[in-house]
Amino acid sequence: MAVERTLSIIKPDAVEKNKTGAILALLEENGFVLRALRRTHLSRREAEGFYAVHKERPFFGELVEFMTRSPVVIAVLERDDAVAKYRAVMGATDPAKADAGTIRKLYGTNVGENAVHGSDSADNARIEIGYFFAASDVAPVA
Ligand code: CMP
Repeated sequence: MAVERTLSIIKPDAVEKNKTGAILALLEENGFVLRALRRTHLSRREAEGFYAVHKERPFFGELVEFMTRSPVVIAVLERDDAVAKYRAVMGATDPAKADAGTIRKLYGTNVGENAVHGSDSADNARIEIGYFFAASDVAPVA
């Protein structure tokens, strides 16, 4: 499998619980390289734009409120098969249904406040990475 990139967001609930370092360490232990990393407090406009695909969902307002509540930590992760491997490490969307040892089982609160986001495909990863990072931020080490 080729080297691939995916976008990760450590969400407000996990940052508030001071679990940023624990989550980044778990990712490195699982073979992901942190190709870019940024801590930021999302504006309503940024959160609404990022989650635009969900704007007709009943939970959209709640999702935007949550994602703008306090800072997030956004990362570009790189390794072979990064999209699928990261989704396995995150666990199911609902922490109650996530496997033991996954990030959402360890640090998630509920289906809305589930500690982390990850891209669902390589195509969406490219779009999501471009939403938050300039090309020079994720350029390979020379
Ligand atoms: P994420 O992977 O960031 O993508 C969309 C998010 O919507 C998802 O994680 C959840 O946090 C959130 N979400 C999905 N289903 C629900 C739900 N039923 N209620 C509230 N939030 C939800």
